[in-house]
Amino acid sequence: MGYQTLDVEPLSGALGAVLHGPDLSADLSNQTFDEIHQAFLDHKAIFFRGQNLDPHQQIAFGRRFGPMAAYPFMEGLPEAPETFEILKTETDVKNFGGGWHADMSFVPVPPLGTMLYGIELPDAGGDTMFANTALAYEALSDGMKELLDGVIGVNSAALKRSGGRANSFKKATAMASKNLDRASMEAEHPIVRTHPETGKKALFVSRGHTASLKDMTEEESYPLIDFLADHCVRPEFTCRFRWEAGSLALWDNRCTLHFAVDDYPGQRRRMRRLTIEGDKPV
Ligand code: SIN
Repeated sequence: MGYQTLDVEPLSGALGAVLHGPDLSADLSNQTFDEIHQAFLDHKAIFFRGQNLDPHQQIAFGRRFGPMAAYPFMEGLPEAPETFEILKTETDVKNFGGGWHADMSFVPVPPLGTMLYGIELPDAGGDTMFANTALAYEALSDGMKELLDGVIGVNSAALKRSGGRANSFKKATAMASKNLDRASMEAEHPIVRTHPETGKKALFVSRGHTASLKDMTEEESYPLIDFLADHCVRPEFTCRFRWEAGSLALWDNRCTLHFAVDDYPGQRRRMRRLTIEGDKPV
């Protein structure tokens, strides 16, 4: 589409675009918001630079996309419980989100998207990588697409193969975790889901959360999960965002995976995250 209020700079051939122009702390006009929304659907992960957002302004922008969705394993900020901080301190040995995953695929209704705001960043490193799982689906053979039709993934917060999301909080000591007794929460979703807004099919599977395939043994499930998880993140389906303080990212959790790169030992990284309510994958 032609944009009137935005300058759109694609990040790679696969997905991702930096949107120049809007001040997200302001009350955006409907036209500007509609263009941002269209860019979000077109590019699947959108980024803004040079923003100055307090938690309430970030929530106000998030609410333009839909109601907030709570994240089960982290304490929200006292002044804005819809958000929480992702913090890795100089002494932490493990980061949050350091494996390819879609956010909260272990709940019955995973989020539409996640919005992350950069507050403190290392001098170099701490980038986030993204993968376009609609492009990955399209690139599969017709035979594989047919095979995946109707296959259901069992997604777990406590996936033992990779350490699991909830389990990893025990090591991320700087962050205020909660509900770790619910780390076994699981949800079943189709491995191939149809995007409710674009109608495009995308893979919804990751090593981070997909524990097995329904009605199959683990031994039968793992090779297919591993193939699909590796296929989704082939370099030609990815982009990489380099953060600065004041950068904001919003990714479409329905058709992307992401990976927080942990390459800044001894340095501090602090981000503010919120998630936006989605639909039950079909
Ligand atoms: C996440 O939400 O998985 C973390 C992403 C990041 O910190 O870059």
